[in-house]
Amino acid sequence: MDSFTATAGRMPRLRARIAQHPERFRVLTGERPTGRLHLGHYFGTIRERVRLQTAGVDTFVILADYQVITDRDTAGDVRENVYSAVIDYLAAGLDPQVTTIFAHSAVPALNQLLLPFLSLVSEAELHRNPTVKAELRASGRALSGLLLTYPVHQAADILFCKGNLVPVGKDNLPHVEMTRTIARRFNERYGDVFPEPEALVTDAPELPGLDGRKMSKSYGNAIELGMTADETAAAIRRARTDADRAITYDPGRRPGVAGLLATAAVVLSRTPDEIADEIGTAGAGALKTFTIEAVNEFLREHRARRAALTPDDAAAVLRRGNERADAIATDTLTDVRSAMGMTY
Ligand code: TRP
Repeated sequence: MDSFTATAGRMPRLRARIAQHPERFRVLTGERPTGRLHLGHYFGTIRERVRLQTAGVDTFVILADYQVITDRDTAGDVRENVYSAVIDYLAAGLDPQVTTIFAHSAVPALNQLLLPFLSLVSEAELHRNPTVKAELRASGRALSGLLLTYPVHQAADILFCKGNLVPVGKDNLPHVEMTRTIARRFNERYGDVFPEPEALVTDAPELPGLDGRKMSKSYGNAIELGMTADETAAAIRRARTDADRAITYDPGRRPGVAGLLATAAVVLSRTPDEIADEIGTAGAGALKTFTIEAVNEFLREHRARRAALTPDDAAAVLRRGNERADAIATDTLTDVRSAMGMTY
């Protein structure tokens, strides 16, 4: 059994524990602001965060802006991406009164945790991380010190607030494992300061994009939450399908058709096969019209709430979140330095 299967097997019990005792959990999760958020993010992670918040779990959402430069030269439109993500969070139902939304670059004490944490891992362990290896290959560049060590930085993201529950996708599981190792080693060497956080793996299946591959901005196959209804229609119309008028759900042989069916299915909470049956032999044009209507209807309220929010609103939310995160990080850094005997 691989570690993902093992982790997935633990999820039902973990979910039951969260439902029973939400007050025992502190969630830290977030993303790398490399682009606009899309439907894949919504169903993969954002919806889960809103559920946890609603269940009464103390929730922190990090915009990991330093992580943007792990595999590229510059941070690009990072501020725009951060503001846009905050606006999507608010439109999706995250409440900044109860959920702390912040950027890790704005929290110096969080970043300082990186120093003692780096002493707790070996170079060989860093090189072994399968996600880092995959990202290195995909980047086609030389390995930067930041790419090699970012899982340790991510441990600081999680442990600064003593988070004990980390909702992540499968590709981030090695980082949660490393966070547990760092917490354990710190506690063994210096005394109990940190919890060993658990990963919460989302049960939503990965949403394919309009070409059937994983939905991703870099593939140009994404429906961004901030698109207008017309932009959405245009993106869906552009999807590559085939000439077979009988619509069937066959991701292997008909990726474009399958991507459309999966998208319509997820926004309607139905199955792709059901929708394929309903379209019958009406062809890909009819499937596109159906998908456009389904997606635009699903996003209507999100977009209306989004349109009422401005970058200034996002900036105000971040200022508060950064301040709250900073106060907590400063306390944790004080615990760390005193555990290490570095108080003067
Ligand atoms: N690496 C995460 C991603 O790929 C983003 C992230 C940064 C994160 N810090 C985190 C996720 C801490 C969970 C916890 O999207």
